[in-house]
Amino acid sequence: MADERFNTTTDSGAPVTSDEHSLTVGAGGPIVLHDHYLIEQMAQFNRERVPERQPHAKGSGAFGSFEVTADVSDYTCAAVFQPGTVTEMAARFSTVAGERGSPDTWRDPRGFALKFYTSEGVYDMVGNNTPVFFIKDPLKFQHFIRSQKRRADNNLRDHDMQWDFWTLSPESAHQVTWLMGDRGIPRTWRHMNGYSSHTYLWVNSSGAKHWVKYHFKTDQGIETFTQDEADQMASADTDYHTRDLYEAIDGGDFPTWTMKVQLMPFDDATSYRFNPFDLTKVWPHDDYPLIEVGRMKLDRNPTDHHTEIEQAAFEPNNLVPGIGLSPDRMLLARSFAYADAHRYRIGVNYKQIPVNASKYPVHSYSKDGAMRVTNVSDPVYAPNSKGGPAARNDFQGEPGWAADGDIVRTAYVDHPQDDDFGQAGTLIREVMDQDARDRLVDNVVGHLLNGVEDPVLSRAFEYWQRIDPGVGKAIRDGVESKAGESDPKAADQGNPARAGMQQKA
Ligand code: NDP
Ligand code: HEM
Repeated sequence: MADERFNTTTDSGAPVTSDEHSLTVGAGGPIVLHDHYLIEQMAQFNRERVPERQPHAKGSGAFGSFEVTADVSDYTCAAVFQPGTVTEMAARFSTVAGERGSPDTWRDPRGFALKFYTSEGVYDMVGNNTPVFFIKDPLKFQHFIRSQKRRADNNLRDHDMQWDFWTLSPESAHQVTWLMGDRGIPRTWRHMNGYSSHTYLWVNSSGAKHWVKYHFKTDQGIETFTQDEADQMASADTDYHTRDLYEAIDGGDFPTWTMKVQLMPFDDATSYRFNPFDLTKVWPHDDYPLIEVGRMKLDRNPTDHHTEIEQAAFEPNNLVPGIGLSPDRMLLARSFAYADAHRYRIGVNYKQIPVNASKYPVHSYSKDGAMRVTNVSDPVYAPNSKGGPAARNDFQGEPGWAADGDIVRTAYVDHPQDDDFGQAGTLIREVMDQDARDRLVDNVVGHLLNGVEDPVLSRAFEYWQRIDPGVGKAIRDGVESKAGESDPKAADQGNPARAGMQQKA
């Protein structure tokens, strides 16, 4: 006789009498509407999918801890970064443009989203594996993402659309150069760095402020795929990065990253040669060297991808005392966008889902709403004289900065080197070697040959010419010599950058 503890039950816990047969009127007759177990199976199944994330839909993650190995208490009073502190955390890695089932190895930036369950509330660092981004004003973000996803008419991705947006947005040059280079396709998530990309504000216990950028350097070393290797992997194993992380952790090979920061004294911001809040720029290491903070280790796999990863809700506005935003307008907009996306995607009480919930007591005045599971008690308003929670108005370290001026819609250009192309050129000339430059040229030529037409093609040549004249010329020559061949598609079969890419209809 079966052990009753393992009998199938309905969702309300009542024993089920069959896993195989619906309730019917006689063995050959119709099913009946009061087979509530069958109805429960069908209805539950129909509601299994939540909307996928708009960008960053394909990804996975793991859990682990962050240990502070140095002393940065002069710069931030955040509990999570105090010497010796160990904090539980979650991480999710993703591609940006692809849908939930898309290949892990498409050329794209990777999301690098971290959640720290700190003693002062949940802190999220929602970064990418690149230190910069394509745009610097949030009004362009929606247009940017649409240009990287699918056309309206044939539902295909379209390189002409991608390059149309990029070449009309010259601030994209640094990120596009990075993307078309070797690091545009990491070999695994374990072998890539993560960056805050944005500048944040740190405040110490005396109220002193520093601007900060985070770098999570992989301890596994950087490894990348060539376009050819990535194309082959996209068909051999669509979920290669997901599998790699899961299997590594499952086998006890726990990946680690060393967290380092660049710190800029608060008052340097106005006189620095670059706008320190411009998301398309890095702070060169010679100007602001990396300082070690601690080490992140991932050592636990999810047991239910849906509850622990798909329902994980990262948001740059999850901040803790000692860490604040900066005047970067992209970051300020993101501090609205994510919580709004979560309320739509998984519901208003998403912060009660265990993966998102604080591991320390929450004393907020939020109440009610769909799927609330923690009980609320009176009083339900503040201020009150009934013993309810009161705000911590003795805290001096609230991050902030002075701002004033007319209300305008305009670009911010106020620093000596606010141009769009300089740092992209530095990457090509001073960081890449000749082999890396050749691969960059091959990748761009292959991409452009795949459906990019005038006037976008001519603009792409000018764009690369402005980034670096030598690389610009090599790209133009490469495209023109291949496009002149009688059957460019056939001639291009040897070009690894083209193989496996979608054709424009
Ligand atoms: P450095 O020589 O001090 O650092 C160069 C940086 O480039 C290193 O962080 C290195 O990462 C990274 N890198 C190496 N190869 C590539 C590649 N193929 N694609 C992208 N990044 C690569 O130079 P600077 O700080 O003066 O910066 C020069 C240029 O380097 C910048 O214009 C920027 O494009 C790029 N860069 C700069 C970063 C920064 O925060 N300053 C961060 C990342 C890139 P690693 O050490 O992990 O190998
Ligand atoms: C995901 C908006 C820029 C990193 C998302 C999501 C939205 C969004 C709506 C989906 C969230 C969800 O449904 O869970 C925006 C807007 C931006 C912006 C409006 C600019 C104004 C950036 C930048 C970075 C970034 C600059 C990196 C530095 C990520 C990551 C995810 C994500 C890593 C996936 C998080 C996860 O794993 O769940 N973004 N984004 N985004 N974004 Fe952004």
